[in-house]
Amino acid sequence: MKLCIDHADTIQIRRIYENYPIDGVSTNPSILAKCSRPPYEVLREIRDIIGPEGELFVQIISPDEEAALQEADRILKETGEQTLIKVPSTAEGFRIMKRLKTEGIRFIGTAVYTVMQGFLAAKCGAEYVAPYVNRIDNMGLDGVQVSKDIHDAICRNGLDSGLLAASFRNTQQVLELIKYGVKAVTVSPDVIDSFVRNAEVDNAVIRFTRDFEGLCGEGKTMLDC
Ligand code: E4P
Repeated sequence: MKLCIDHADTIQIRRIYENYPIDGVSTNPSILAKCSRPPYEVLREIRDIIGPEGELFVQIISPDEEAALQEADRILKETGEQTLIKVPSTAEGFRIMKRLKTEGIRFIGTAVYTVMQGFLAAKCGAEYVAPYVNRIDNMGLDGVQVSKDIHDAICRNGLDSGLLAASFRNTQQVLELIKYGVKAVTVSPDVIDSFVRNAEVDNAVIRFTRDFEGLCGEGKTMLDC
């Protein structure tokens, strides 16, 4: 399962990339807007951090097929041919997806709130589909269950796609989908940090250090004894 960062702040991305086993970065127009910087400047910096192997997800804006295709071309020129184009899973979006498939451009169906949207995006050839777990929860539905149902619909219909589950607010939502074996999740830095934020773990490490220093002296490590 791939673990991506759902953010565009390059300081945070660099920190999370250094600390955790991360596979890529996803952005959307709202995430880029929070940076208040020229989008391609930010996206090129992200590409430099994650390298050519890292998955980078960038969303197009136009619902018009020809304009969307030009956007996709520009995104790929600016950020690398391997970048995945995010397309909202709407009626116009499916038309764009079919065209991207014909052109051999990698893409992902985003803004997925229902199983049918996810199924249709996968059927259009999307490499990933992105259900918005927390936003679905906020509609009074079960975002994790909708994501599992999309995963099952893709598998049972033999479609060559998988989830990039998105919009998480807590570790439990992510964990449920890790256990279910979805293709990928994309998670904000604060939720990734909360994966291992645990006072008991911190106390255990403090105790190990204190015991060792009691044995070998303050500030000593296995290099000094
Ligand atoms: C990623 O593809 C989505 O755009 C993103 O996760 C949405 O997250 P939000 O619900 O926190 O805005």
